[in-house]
Amino acid sequence: VSADGATPGGAQHVPTRGSTGDAVTVHVDVRPPYPVRIGPGVLVEAPRWTPSRRVAVISDGHVDLLHGDAVATALEADDRRVVRLVVPPGEASKRVPVWHDLLRRLAREGFGRDDAVVALGGGVVGDLAGFVAASYMRGVPVVQAPTSLLAMADAAIGGKTGVNLSEGKNLVGAFWQPRAVLMDVTSLRTLPHERFAHGLAEVAKHGLLADRALLQAVLDGELAPDADDEALTRWVAASARVKATVVARDERESGTARATLNLGHTVAHALESATDHAIEHGEAVTWGLLYAAHLSHLHHEALGEATEDWRELARRLVRRLAPRPPDVHDWGALAPFVARDKKARDGRRRWVTLPSPGDPRVVDDVPPERENDAWEAFVADVRTLGDVEEGDGT
Ligand SMILES: NC(=O)c1ccc[n+]([C@@H]2O[C@H](COP(=O)([O-])OP(=O)(O)OC[C@H]3O[C@@H](n4cnc5c(N)ncnc54)[C@H](O)[C@@H]3O)[C@@H](O)[C@H]2O)c1
Ligand SMILES: [Zn+2]
Repeated sequence: VSADGATPGGAQHVPTRGSTGDAVTVHVDVRPPYPVRIGPGVLVEAPRWTPSRRVAVISDGHVDLLHGDAVATALEADDRRVVRLVVPPGEASKRVPVWHDLLRRLAREGFGRDDAVVALGGGVVGDLAGFVAASYMRGVPVVQAPTSLLAMADAAIGGKTGVNLSEGKNLVGAFWQPRAVLMDVTSLRTLPHERFAHGLAEVAKHGLLADRALLQAVLDGELAPDADDEALTRWVAASARVKATVVARDERESGTARATLNLGHTVAHALESATDHAIEHGEAVTWGLLYAAHLSHLHHEALGEATEDWRELARRLVRRLAPRPPDVHDWGALAPFVARDKKARDGRRRWVTLPSPGDPRVVDDVPPERENDAWEAFVADVRTLGDVEEGDGT
């Protein structure tokens, strides 16, 4: 990851043509590299990154109403023919029939291989429209324009696109890197507050993996829906930088770098399945990070390694983000879902642990008793923290 300038850490203030304020660029060093532009008003840069006559702006019903005009107007002002394709909001749009319908719409509109797609919305639209772009005529250019914090922090960088099957989430898809990613931080102001908190879980994960100041900003409430443009830009960029660095090291998840992004996610996915998705992904990740804190502590202490105890940081995160407590208390009930996690290999469970914040490890030598001990300690915490007043923090 490098910046337009040469500042280590990868960002520089660049005045944005046609935008309302300063934007920051984070480069994703894959082949070909692409920029992530973060700042207030960067949606107006859409024409600059879509080198085509026709542009399909794919969005969902909520986001199209709120932010569709900003993109369409900017493109039309630059003489592009804009086709707005709107799908119903929600995970149910990430399905093959919706993907198929979008492909047919592009074909009927006469889209060619040089025409472009803008994915404007949360992670659902990003994955769906990204996969439309990856598959239409074997691939057309896509610009990711994430509007939810979760999509900015996670989904929009890295090129993973796809749809769900009835048999499971994200079972069909492709790696398809965007031409550019436009993160207009002002769009976060229309995001419901609980959704902002879900995104913060992923931002906190990035903070734990590689950026202590970012973690602190989440814990202190500096990255919040009512923060000013400058603060939103700074912290969204910090989070993007962590994701971009990991993606650049391991574009196709062939090594272990990208696997570290799974911190907290093994238990998160299990909690989501075990509760039949009664708790949302971001809530489950918050709890998953707390479990990871306990497991990391027990595991690396047992190995006699130098560790920094980050359990209290994880508890503070739970208090700040106030996820609903999962209604699962015994490891026996959760373990089958953990075993099913697709990150497990050769029958051995792979865990991402942090002996200390900033030092992720992928380990496969955690004895089952230790998983269970971490669970007992975790459940004791859930009982105490679950009583915390909703809304403490954000
Ligand atoms: N490709 C990846 O690497 C990756 C990574 C993480 C998650 N994902 C995927 O992302 C999806 C979840 O993303 P999500 O949480 O953004 O869900 P989402 O796309 O469903 O958005 C959540 C809700 O917020 C609304 N919304 C989005 N932006 C808004 C805004 N600015 N103002 C008002 N409302 C807004 C949407 O209309 C929707 O109702 C999942 O399908 C997940 O699999 C993909
Ligand atoms: Zn996640």
